[in-house]
Amino acid sequence: MPSVLIKTYGCQMNERDSEQVASMFLAGGYHLTQSEAEADVILINTCSVREKAELKALGKMGLLCARPTAKPWVVYGFMGCMSQSRARSLFRDVPRLDIVTGTQQYHHVYELCNRLLRSRMGNNTDTPLRKGAHICHTEQEEGFQNAIRDHLPPAGNCTAFVSIMQGCEMRCSYCIVPSTRGNECSRPAEDILQEVRELVERGVREVTLLGQIVNRYGKDEPIVNGRGAFVRLLEALHEIDGLARIRFTSPHPIGFRQDLVNAYTYLPKLCSHIHFPMQSGSDRILQLMRRPYKNEKYLRLCEAMREARPDLAITTDIIVGFPGETDEDYQQTKAAVERIRFDNAFVFQYSPRRDTVAAAMPDQICLRVKEERNHDLLETVNRIATARNHALVGTLQHILVEGPSKNNPERLQGRTSQNKPVIIPGGSATPGHIVPIRINECTGFTLYGDVV
Ligand code: 5AD
Ligand code: SF4
Repeated sequence: MPSVLIKTYGCQMNERDSEQVASMFLAGGYHLTQSEAEADVILINTCSVREKAELKALGKMGLLCARPTAKPWVVYGFMGCMSQSRARSLFRDVPRLDIVTGTQQYHHVYELCNRLLRSRMGNNTDTPLRKGAHICHTEQEEGFQNAIRDHLPPAGNCTAFVSIMQGCEMRCSYCIVPSTRGNECSRPAEDILQEVRELVERGVREVTLLGQIVNRYGKDEPIVNGRGAFVRLLEALHEIDGLARIRFTSPHPIGFRQDLVNAYTYLPKLCSHIHFPMQSGSDRILQLMRRPYKNEKYLRLCEAMREARPDLAITTDIIVGFPGETDEDYQQTKAAVERIRFDNAFVFQYSPRRDTVAAAMPDQICLRVKEERNHDLLETVNRIATARNHALVGTLQHILVEGPSKNNPERLQGRTSQNKPVIIPGGSATPGHIVPIRINECTGFTLYGDVV
């Protein structure tokens, strides 16, 4: 039985796309492996969002292709965002590479790899192949968003990602995603509901809906009784018996309407956590970023959601060192962090991406300043995040028990509705169950508790 190794960089969308590819290999009789020495097919699902992510994937593939292997037939492939944006030029960087597939071609990866592997094995070749097969598929494909729907067989997981839309049409000036992920396309609600019903039958209790701008799901559909397509989808999912929790990521202030704020008041299965990228607290920088709203709108949305759901945890993404960012702009970002008091934030140093508007802007910020702002902002973010976590000590929380803790398999790990990880003693609860926990300790980002 041949085996496939899939490594995934980047966001949850990529994780989900990799799962789709893996499940097609399984259906084709392969088994999944973590071992580089054992694998007959090695795939890397790539991210382009910052330069570092690309260098990581390129470096890894370079090493894999150069290693001595007892299997001269191994098929090497790149999938995803970097493939989409660099396409055939990747064969120059990694000559041994066989297959490059873009973000709308995930459902063809299995067939391409399997065909190539079978033909190589059939040739019974025992001399190492020097040059890859150089097969490249990055064309757009209508309806591809409906092909991300298969899940791996249950391995006791009680949580799952569900892709509900793909692509992004927002054109933020720093971002490569609109060019790697194409136009926005939403899946039909009925297909999504069917997928989630099947997941629930297999024991899934919590789903996370995925989309580059998830709240623009079904943006061309009519508003019915004040509710847009995204909120109507949330309501329909809420009706599914056995589904306990609904999450989604990531929303954008554009297309974020009152109906979504209100949803937090009457949909108890909707979790008390939202990852809501802010990017900058300065209106001048937001404008240069081509994000067509004022920071005040973002802040008001956060506050309105907290009014609707007082225990809502908010996490965010922030970019520091965007071209032209002055100290004053940066201080405004810091002030916004103090005002919202995020539960956590990812802070990124601006990374110029090819063919984006911002990469060609004047006043690029030097590395030293980017690093200083990054470091300074993280201090603020961590101080607030730690204080918020400490405030949970002594409270009662409900966690969905996910399984053994990664650091200590003797204990169990679960998550609160606010998406905070909680460690509890092993044997004190059953994975897949939601149990009440008294939080009695907190170390930075992890909470510890006991079943009540
Ligand atoms: N440089 C730095 N960070 C970026 N992001 C997107 N593009 C860039 C870039 N060119 C960040 C944004 C986004 C997150 C996924 O990555 O904050 O929300
Ligand atoms: Fe990276 Fe964006 Fe592609 Fe996700 S969609 S893998 S974050 S470039």
